[in-house]
Amino acid sequence: MSLEVGELRVENLRGGYAGTLVLDGISFRVGAGGKLGVLGRNGVGKTTMFACIMGLAQIHSGRITLGGTDIVTLPTWRRARAGLGYVPQTRDIFKSLSVEENLLSAVRTSDDDKRVEAAFALFPRLRERRNNNGMQLSGGEQQMLAVARATISGPKLLLMDEPMEGLAPRLRDELMDAIRNMVGLSGIGCILVEQHVDVVLDFADDVLILERGKPVFLGAANELREDPTILNQAIGFEKTPR
Ligand SMILES: Nc1ncnc2c1ncn2[C@@H]1O[C@H](COP(=O)(O)OP(=O)(O)OP(=O)(O)O)[C@@H](O)[C@H]1O
Ligand SMILES: [Mg+2]
Repeated sequence: MSLEVGELRVENLRGGYAGTLVLDGISFRVGAGGKLGVLGRNGVGKTTMFACIMGLAQIHSGRITLGGTDIVTLPTWRRARAGLGYVPQTRDIFKSLSVEENLLSAVRTSDDDKRVEAAFALFPRLRERRNNNGMQLSGGEQQMLAVARATISGPKLLLMDEPMEGLAPRLRDELMDAIRNMVGLSGIGCILVEQHVDVVLDFADDVLILERGKPVFLGAANELREDPTILNQAIGFEKTPR
């Protein structure tokens, strides 16, 4: 099997927190440009899965490789350096820094101004607010900034934990369009954890559905589009109205 540069492979992951096993038997791969959507009810372990990939939760057993290199023993910052971008569910932006300063703080290269301008091209709403502090942004704009920050240093793979959570449909569509453009332009892979089934089915090539820490479906999004009963059988999901 050939290896792609930015390919993330998770093999039979078991993990959680000290003494608590949350995830059991998670396996998938996402190649360059690949789009994996992750669905599952509250508390099934979606955030824990990202935490394990980023080195923020305990891995009991299993393998995680990025571009063929085992990253399980690497500290979080080295996983980020190796090419993992992460938009946590908690939206870690600096509230006392301006939009522009938040973006600059995430760039590690000498072409920082160019990268900030490229981010503004993708997220025009942020350009309009470039001098506003994080605390002067709406919740949705903060979420947009968190996504822009995670992508500005050019990750190979982007993990996004419910970036659309709590957004009104219009802002949700705006953010989703920006993400789609960014992924199209950069060709990076991404994993999107999302509660809205329709958003995932519109965006993803493949879908992983978790139930109590275990995979109950891993396959093409097309399969779910063509046969929505799989969703119902897997977790009793209904298609959400938009
Ligand atoms: N730091 C922690 N220490 C111990 N247990 C935790 C910790 N964080 C989460 N858990 C537990 O792990 C399980 C999975 O939580 P997780 O946050 O991964 O779920 P989730 O699928 O992301 O849910 P949501 O859709 O609500 O974000 C839950 O039972 C939760 O209580
Ligand atoms: Mg979560």
